[in-house]
Amino acid sequence: MCGIVGYTGHRAAAPLIMDGLKRLEYRGYDSAGLAVVVDGRLEIDKAAGKLAVLASRLPTDGHTGTLALGHTRWATHGAPNDVNAHPHTDTDGTIAVVHNGIIENAAALRAWLSERGCRFRSETDTEVLAHLISELYTDSLEAAVAEALRRVEGTYGLGVISTHEPNTLVAARLGSPLLLALGDGENFIASDAAAVVEHTRSVVYLDDGEVAVLTPDNYHIVDLDKTRVEKTVSVVDWDLETIERGGHAHFMIKEILEQPEAITNTMRGRLLEEEGTARLGGIDMTDEQLLEIDRVVLTACGTSWHAALIGEYMLEELARIPAEVEYASEFRYREPLVDSRTLVIGLSQSGETADTLAALREAKKRGARTLGIVNSVGSTIAREVDGGTYIHAGPEIGVASTKAFTCQVVALALLTLRLGRLRAMSVLQGRKMVKALRRLPQQVRQVLGHSKEIEKLADTYALAQNALFLGRGYNFPVALEGALKLKEISYIHAEGYPAAEMKHGPIALIDEMMPVICVAPSDAVYQKIVSNVQEVKARHARIFAVVTEGEEEITSLADQTVTIPKTIDCLTPVLSVIPLQLLAYHVAVRRGCDVDQPRNLAKSVTVE
Ligand code: AGP
Repeated sequence: MCGIVGYTGHRAAAPLIMDGLKRLEYRGYDSAGLAVVVDGRLEIDKAAGKLAVLASRLPTDGHTGTLALGHTRWATHGAPNDVNAHPHTDTDGTIAVVHNGIIENAAALRAWLSERGCRFRSETDTEVLAHLISELYTDSLEAAVAEALRRVEGTYGLGVISTHEPNTLVAARLGSPLLLALGDGENFIASDAAAVVEHTRSVVYLDDGEVAVLTPDNYHIVDLDKTRVEKTVSVVDWDLETIERGGHAHFMIKEILEQPEAITNTMRGRLLEEEGTARLGGIDMTDEQLLEIDRVVLTACGTSWHAALIGEYMLEELARIPAEVEYASEFRYREPLVDSRTLVIGLSQSGETADTLAALREAKKRGARTLGIVNSVGSTIAREVDGGTYIHAGPEIGVASTKAFTCQVVALALLTLRLGRLRAMSVLQGRKMVKALRRLPQQVRQVLGHSKEIEKLADTYALAQNALFLGRGYNFPVALEGALKLKEISYIHAEGYPAAEMKHGPIALIDEMMPVICVAPSDAVYQKIVSNVQEVKARHARIFAVVTEGEEEITSLADQTVTIPKTIDCLTPVLSVIPLQLLAYHVAVRRGCDVDQPRNLAKSVTVE
């Protein structure tokens, strides 16, 4: 999950590349590098660590060249250090490449190239590409790249420049996202639009097997058999301001506070109050086709998988349709039983997660109908599924997903309304759900009002070594999500559990040192979780509980509580998760962690 930026034009390329990499740093941030063609030579700068380290090493007078490539890395092959950082070059320093993905036959290619005298400097799989292209280069970089890629197995988002052609930038894609951004007398390549939106909003999304050749005034795309491919130019529907921190200390807190607007955008134009249902034009299925569906499989990774779990509960309880949730990384290799009456829904914020993409491709191959619930417009999953729903949460930069989660849950509620009203839900039930959805943004604002209280709580939790999150029903997935948030940004070991499961083992962990966070709104299983809270209280646990306004029993048992407004059971996760997002955020800040770019993580996982 690296970030790639490339430029060919009339302006000094280096500063443009560095600005672009800054906007992609959330994709990978363990090392970075830059290659610029200057007077027929390649000038390369690379550095382990954050982009700022590289910036501090660049020549003060800057590079003058107008053709360049940049890369910010999330290491897969070869430790994050100066030598393994990209760009990589061939033995003579005439070809430079940056790569996002994995070259699976790198070892064989390395052996073949070494026999031909190529000298390797790094431990990476990527370096073989520079040597291979150089070996195959005669008089056309485009041809050499295409020929090299015919010999490569694996995945790539690739950028290539050469001293032989000082205006030509070549890009290629197989499995990892890459787009072209078209300017006036200049053109860019980038892993996503955030890197280039300040220069142009006209983009072309590359598809698998395509090679693009860009010069300052032109570009064309071919497939690996050199057949020309015509593509549509899309316009990015958001601007630079949306990807700025806007005065907030971190993107994560900015995105947590954006949830009322984000949820409103997810519902915009989709609620039909009178009919008590939802309009989801993008799913592109008629009522008849939806009624033919006899089973729903939801597949995803990480936070999106937690949202999928809530979708399973909604679809079964309210739409009365059998539903199951699958880890995408397991589903894709498990010979899944799906057919034309199965609806496979892939949830993904980035729309680029390799396992989720592969799971959807597998389902499609086996005849299932596929839907995507996705945030990133124009992403690969969005372009490959049969239909789908954009959640319109706006760009999510913080690696820890927050607003995308609540918007995914709202989108699943809309889908449940659409499917449910065709099956088991009455118009009255539908209207009640529509009303509850309309109240959500204001109710979320109310819960965000507890931020200061939770910030104070963070003091006591910042020293914790472990934490246990408990929930039942719709809020069991919220307990999992709360634990994941705390784990990924504060590095405190945390586990989420169905509260009733405690008795079957984890309760052995409980003592006065173990913080227990109970997600316990007053829903259909409230009375059950009261007894679970009593069980952990009896073992002297320190309890923080999320409860519904006016609740008393758990409030009297817990050490601290935060209240959420009353809503219908299936929507409580949208409110109950917010105190857990805030707790994780404030604890991570207290512990001095890098909240937006936690160690070892990346925003979208584009390799399996
Ligand atoms: C969540 O905070 C993490 N960033 C991670 O678990 C993420 O949810 C997972 O990688 C799935 O990403 P996606 O929604 O972009 O597919």
